[in-house]
Amino acid sequence: MTLIYLVIFWFFLKTSRCQLQCVQETFDDTEFSINVTEHIQLESSSCHEIPYKLTFLTNNVTAPYEVIWFEGDPANTVAVAVISEVESETQDSFEIYGLPQGEYEYGLKLEWGCNQTYIFPKRVHISVSELTQKPDIWVPHMVEGEDVTITCIAERLCYGEEGIHWKWTKADGVTTVIHDDDHFSFHWRNTNALHLSPTADDHNSNLTCVVEHTHDVVETTVTLNVQYSPKILNSSECRTEGKLLVCTCISQGNPLPPITWPLDTLTDYSVSSFSSIQTVTSTIILPAADYHNATVKCSSSNEVGLSAIEIPVPNGTENLRLDPGVDLNHEYDAVFPWIIVGVSLSLNLVLLTTLIICIRKGRKSSPKELCEEMNTYASLNVADVEQPYGNISLSNQRK
Ligand SMILES: *[C@@H]1O[C@H](CO)[C@@H](O)[C@H](O)[C@H]1NC(C)=O
Ligand SMILES: *[C@@H]1O[C@H](CO)[C@@H](O)[C@H](O)[C@H]1NC(C)=O
Ligand SMILES: *[C@@H]1O[C@H](CO)[C@@H](O)[C@H](O)[C@H]1NC(C)=O
Ligand SMILES: *[C@@H]1O[C@H](CO)[C@@H](O)[C@H](O)[C@H]1NC(C)=O
Ligand SMILES: *[C@@H]1O[C@H](CO)[C@@H](O)[C@H](O)[C@H]1NC(C)=O
Ligand SMILES: *[C@@H]1O[C@H](CO)[C@@H](O)[C@H](O)[C@H]1NC(C)=O
Ligand SMILES: *[C@@H]1O[C@H](CO)[C@@H](O)[C@H](O)[C@H]1NC(C)=O
Repeated sequence: MTLIYLVIFWFFLKTSRCQLQCVQETFDDTEFSINVTEHIQLESSSCHEIPYKLTFLTNNVTAPYEVIWFEGDPANTVAVAVISEVESETQDSFEIYGLPQGEYEYGLKLEWGCNQTYIFPKRVHISVSELTQKPDIWVPHMVEGEDVTITCIAERLCYGEEGIHWKWTKADGVTTVIHDDDHFSFHWRNTNALHLSPTADDHNSNLTCVVEHTHDVVETTVTLNVQYSPKILNSSECRTEGKLLVCTCISQGNPLPPITWPLDTLTDYSVSSFSSIQTVTSTIILPAADYHNATVKCSSSNEVGLSAIEIPVPNGTENLRLDPGVDLNHEYDAVFPWIIVGVSLSLNLVLLTTLIICIRKGRKSSPKELCEEMNTYASLNVADVEQPYGNISLSNQRK
């Protein structure tokens, strides 16, 4: 038994002594050389192949030997290649699989036989800067309700698939992350396509394509431009201001939808309009007496469509044509016709006087203008009075 132990101990001693005998030789740097780029600029996460060529004397190295790349300290191995045949020249390449921003130093060593090592004094310095490559988004022309496909293409920096997803910030500022199952979206390698049917609300919202690389997240944002047909707001209204009827129509659309008032039969009116962002506001002012319909039509159109509404005209219009202080109560019904007759008579008198003045002034220097002014004044007044006449006679018949 003791003998067996002794034999084992002897073997153990023998092997350890053998290893201890294994002295590391030192080599002359002229016997080994490496040709490799010593300074490399890279962007974060990007892959890079570093080719190199080794040259050494074949009788210094025995096969198999290991070609070992290390980072910083020679003990910090990052890649090992085992070479089974010794040749005086070896060409290979060292692969960088994406690094985060920073400065790096790589070196190469050879190991063979019994702890024989040669460390090349040359170092490869790699400066890794921020990733500047952003994804590209391709957005087609977008019209409300028409299906489109928006595509995001990410730069392929390294091997494997880039993680791509979308973020959508609506006009209210709320951001949602779009998952593949939210929308019909497909994804292959470095491309992601998003299918959507845009609405007017999507106009001016921001769509972001987010790409996740090994060490970086980069994104590109586009502001969506969705064309949509005009929508006339129900805050559009007509009101009377003294003897005037003032109607305001507000329409939203993209592109901006101009507003038209189809009032061919009228001649005496003014229209003003202004626009902001996607809204057009148009105001028409006309003498209330000239307008007899219950509604005013407002139309708004752009290249996508047309919209029109009938804005109701307030009922009070009729009353306002007379002196607003006069109240049309039943009590006055009997008296009223006489007042009207009186007013009518005095108006006729005014007209007559005007006519006389006109004829007289006609002989003087510039008579025309004055006469025309007077005529308009007179005709407006006549129209004002004639209308209530009809109304009052009707209420008399009812009695
Ligand atoms: C090789 O070197 C390492 C460390 O330098 C040592 O631990 C090991 O025992 C050596 N091997 C031989 C066979 O000399
Ligand atoms: C190193 O490699 C480069 C490119 O492969 C070559 O142009 C250059 O001549 C080589 N240098 C030496 C010393 O072999
Ligand atoms: C390397 O090889 C050369 C040439 O054969 C020889 O002169 C030198 O002694 C060798 N060096 C070592 C450390 O074995
Ligand atoms: C969309 O992006 C633009 C430009 O960055 C920004 O001015 C705007 O406020 C964003 N809109 C929304 C709804 O986030
Ligand atoms: C305007 O229209 C919207 C929906 O079309 C409705 O909810 C709202 O009550 C309307 N407002 C007025 C003042 O009519
Ligand atoms: C009033 O209504 C009639 C019929 O509804 C229409 O023919 C006419 O053009 C309208 N007049 C104005 C000034 O809008
Ligand atoms: C306006 O007049 C119409 C009929 O002439 C009537 O049906 C409606 O109720 C009136 N509206 C108001 C607010 O007085």
